[in-house]
Amino acid sequence: MRIVVTGGAGFIGSNFVRWMLDADPAVSIVTLDALTYAGNAENLDGLSPVRHQLVVGDVTRMRDVAGVLDRRVDAVVHFAAESHVDRSISSAQAFAATNVVGTQVVLDAVRQAGVPRLVHVSTDEVYGSLAPGEPPFTEAHPLTPTSPYAASKAGADLLVLAAAATHGLDAVITRCGNNYGPYQFPEKLIPLFITNALAGQPLPLYGDGRQVRDWIHVEDHCRAIAAVLQRGRPGRVYNIGAHGEQDNLSVAHQILSLLHLDPGQIRHVADRPAHDRRYALDTERIERELDWRPTIEFGDGLAAAVSWYQEHRDWWERVKSGAYRTYYESQYGSRLP
Ligand code: NAD
Ligand code: TYD
Repeated sequence: MRIVVTGGAGFIGSNFVRWMLDADPAVSIVTLDALTYAGNAENLDGLSPVRHQLVVGDVTRMRDVAGVLDRRVDAVVHFAAESHVDRSISSAQAFAATNVVGTQVVLDAVRQAGVPRLVHVSTDEVYGSLAPGEPPFTEAHPLTPTSPYAASKAGADLLVLAAAATHGLDAVITRCGNNYGPYQFPEKLIPLFITNALAGQPLPLYGDGRQVRDWIHVEDHCRAIAAVLQRGRPGRVYNIGAHGEQDNLSVAHQILSLLHLDPGQIRHVADRPAHDRRYALDTERIERELDWRPTIEFGDGLAAAVSWYQEHRDWWERVKSGAYRTYYESQYGSRLP
């Protein structure tokens, strides 16, 4: 099986490439990635050049996408996106370009090349926010995104569903909760807090820290995407989650406790605008139709992630140098005087 993975040099994409090559010796993969600030060729180091190739290209450019697609490609798994809510609040144009326009380019290129299947990797954030006690999101929940990031992903999802309905494109959408694990860019909560804790810096917790996310280890997400790729029904949406609801304050405490550090390192800072209070996913559909189940408990997965960042200090110290410092200063400078 030949798969093209867009965004395969990022966090989830690189985990998926590694997982898929490991899981199935008959798979070969071409990664198409623009290597933005979040893309890192190092995340794909050590893979066999016979089975994996990295092509640097932009999903908003038809010639870049068409260049990696031909009739021998069995599937495209589309991860490429601008993915960080805080950055979308500071500046949303790249989100509209990559997430909306880029997805339409991928749809057109897949159709033109006659690729038999597209998996579009989306997020639970398209559903908006839940109040405490409300039932988890099902796939039928209306799309009511609040951040520019989530709105751009919702736009992409609608374009994918439109291509499936109008052109009969064989496309499947996944909507997953918050991921954590190896190779996650340290702008997101868990790697930011682990690496700040390890570096003796404050853990900047937005608002009261009682916002809830439905956490899933990236490896469980990769297994779910593989199940959807192999067995998902065309035109269908599948939620992916691990019943891992945790509030941010508790996540911060768990990280510090795993590292035997003082909770005094937590700093409550100014909240994010329009901060979604809670995400939670109903995963009955993927469990029933595709016989997929999460396997990693949050406590175990978090402990493994903490160990990974302890053992890969070189990786995150390199990532946190250079342009990251400018980002950190603009995002947290006024919050952490
Ligand atoms: P990431 O930011 O770590 O990686 C994104 C990758 O896409 C990077 O390698 C980047 O270089 C690449 N990219 C960006 N713009 C591109 C462009 N124009 N052309 C080609 N490549 C481009 O993101 P992630 O956390 O790995 O998320 C991957 C996908 O999963 C995204 O679509 C995201 O919306 C979705 N998702 C993420 C989470 C999460 O918790 N991280 C949860 C659910 C869904
Ligand atoms: P994040 O990892 O940015 O994912 P998302 O916003 O897509 O869910 O944030 C997860 C939660 O952690 C969210 O409620 C915002 C919060 N958060 C902080 O409290 N401090 C931070 O520095 C960051 C990056 C996030």
